Amino acid sequence: MDLNGVSAVISGGASGLGAATARDLAGNGATVVIADLNEEQGKSLADEIGGVFVKTDVTDEQQVQAAVDAAVATGKPLRVVVNSAGIGWAERTVNRDGNPHSLATYQKVIAINLVGTFNLMRIGAAAMAKTEPADADGARGVVINTASVAGIEGQTGQLAYSASKGGIIGMTVPAARDLSVIGVRVLTICPGIIDTPIYGTGPQAEEWKARLAAPVPFPKRLGRPDEFAHLVRSLIENDYMNGEVIRFDGGIRFQPK
Ligand SMILES: NC(=O)c1ccc[n+]([C@@H]2O[C@H](COP(=O)([O-])OP(=O)(O)OC[C@H]3O[C@@H](n4cnc5c(N)ncnc54)[C@H](O)[C@@H]3O)[C@@H](O)[C@H]2O)c1
Repeated sequence: MDLNGVSAVISGGASGLGAATARDLAGNGATVVIADLNEEQGKSLADEIGGVFVKTDVTDEQQVQAAVDAAVATGKPLRVVVNSAGIGWAERTVNRDGNPHSLATYQKVIAINLVGTFNLMRIGAAAMAKTEPADADGARGVVINTASVAGIEGQTGQLAYSASKGGIIGMTVPAARDLSVIGVRVLTICPGIIDTPIYGTGPQAEEWKARLAAPVPFPKRLGRPDEFAHLVRSLIENDYMNGEVIRFDGGIRFQPK
């Protein structure tokens, strides 16, 4: 899929992996709609890259529809959806005091990470279905979802997060099958540990990130958001990639803790 002259919606596009992807896709000819809760950062990045910001909670049907409508309103066919909105969470199934994991926090993580991803995928794909095919194969678009290595080998205390990411992995093949009839490909990336604000900022966060980087086989460091963005673009541009879950992790395999 050629990025020149198309529009793209990126959830979570105001920060981290989504922001790097917004910069990369815009730099390669796409008009980007940043769909995020963070108004200040989202607007400022949209201005920087000549895109559009739409304040969006990915769990809300109307707000996601409005973000997709904004992409259609650019006059450029919507060809790309990148789901990068997400939150982390750490809580044990039974905590140290013997109390069970909060049901509300579990539901919140599932709602944002999993249901939110589904919400933008379905509404975005419905808009793609209305576009003219981009090539002789009948290609109309690409959906890239962001899961996590934690969705494959979840660590202790990662129950809610891992369930949300495992759900995204589980949706990949059936979504690719469903959407093949409209010429839309679906791919899921599982990042390992990438240096973004999700780990917080300041000296404590830096110390924590250094500990996280230690078990990465090679390169022996955290991944960079621009490397993630490069993978997203490669997947969009490679028309034969479909229905696949791709680890992006420097070879790390998470241990129990
Ligand atoms: N950074 C990593 O190491 C890593 C590893 C594996 C997976 N991931 C996943 O990658 C994605 C991006 O993470 P990141 O590291 O860039 O984090 P980040 O915190 O830098 O960015 C996440 C963005 O999502 C937005 N967001 C949160 N809830 C939202 C909602 N309800 N509606 C719309 N936007 C919302 C935030 O405002 C923020 O801009 C997440 O899904 C995360 O789980 C990250």
